[in-house]
Amino acid sequence: MLVCGRFLCAFFALFFISFGSANSRVFRRFSTAQSMATYPTIYVDQSGYGNFSTIQSAIDSIPSNNGNWICVSVRAGEYREQVRIPMDKPYIYIKGDGKRKTSVIWGSHGSIATSPTFISQADNTIVKSISFRNSFNNPPTNYNPIRTAVATMISGDKSAFYRCGFYGFQDTLWDVQGKHYFKLCTIEGAVDFIFGSGQSIYERCTISVIARALDGLAGFITAQGRSTPEETNGFVFKDCSVIGTGLTYLGRPWREYARVIFYNSYLSDVVLPLGWNAWGNFAGREYQLTFAEHDCYGIGSSTSNRVKWEANLSQDTLSWLTNIKFIDDDGWISRQPVEELKDDLTDLETMVEPVIDKTIQSKGT
Ligand SMILES: *[C@@H]1O[C@H](CO)[C@@H](O)[C@H](O)[C@H]1NC(C)=O
Ligand SMILES: *[C@@H]1O[C@H](CO)[C@@H](O)[C@H](O)[C@H]1NC(C)=O
Repeated sequence: MLVCGRFLCAFFALFFISFGSANSRVFRRFSTAQSMATYPTIYVDQSGYGNFSTIQSAIDSIPSNNGNWICVSVRAGEYREQVRIPMDKPYIYIKGDGKRKTSVIWGSHGSIATSPTFISQADNTIVKSISFRNSFNNPPTNYNPIRTAVATMISGDKSAFYRCGFYGFQDTLWDVQGKHYFKLCTIEGAVDFIFGSGQSIYERCTISVIARALDGLAGFITAQGRSTPEETNGFVFKDCSVIGTGLTYLGRPWREYARVIFYNSYLSDVVLPLGWNAWGNFAGREYQLTFAEHDCYGIGSSTSNRVKWEANLSQDTLSWLTNIKFIDDDGWISRQPVEELKDDLTDLETMVEPVIDKTIQSKGT
């Protein structure tokens, strides 16, 4: 059945095409205006086309007690600086151009307090699409002795990290304290490389183990620091992927009530059959620890030879720990003005073949 003449059909088609595209243009302009209205942006660009050429100078330009979201947009490049968001500057959103395009690199070592390439001390912080490397032992091909060399230290509350990279060797990510959310991030290292007393969910992250540089010694992914049964902190790895070279334990306790859960995660053969280690001074008190794995898969996930004291969580405890409410009781994550994240796969990192091996310093307990 003919609903219109040829001429009329063409007319309507044209009308709809032009209406449709005008409409989408209007919509696009509208949504850009919306997101621009959400926060002002300061641009950091090494080639001189931004407001600042270093990230720290952009942060320094933001007044103390900042009360509204402000974005520091960091154009692609390798920024050779130590960066710190001080405690009195909340609501800063640092946005790179991609974790392989925008990176901050520094190579200090020795102290967990002064070596971090990036220090985030303020509450209400967002960091997206940028990587932080401590180059002292990463990549581990520079023949430096293995030392504490932190890539990032996070001590503020309500801080979220999307598509970030954290690269180090020993003590890469100091998740000090506060509620933190890591999504689609890569954390790389070999010894205690995710440590501290943060209350954190790591979701769909790649845990990249470079323990081959330990020359036969095993590494440790986590060294969690919960020190009493009342403390609410703990590290939850949800839908993550543990890959890499060498051998590693999933963790050892930094403090006596350490709590670490691997949930629905892929564990490759880098994970040792024993799974966990009680570190010297906690032997005999392993019952205080909460180290658990539930619904993991991959060669490294076989629990038949695990330490006998691995925790078996009840369904209620497991649901509580793996729900976003564990860190997001008041809805702070959904109130942050971060754009919609594309829901594609975590990218796997290219493994570097490590060469060196030296003694491992303990950071003490
Ligand atoms: C950043 O630079 C742009 C372009 O020069 C300028 O319009 C804007 O006001 C600057 N912003 C700040 C915070 O200096
Ligand atoms: C863990 O506990 C559940 C019951 O809550 C039990 O069915 C399961 O076999 C236990 N797993 C291990 C490894 O002990």
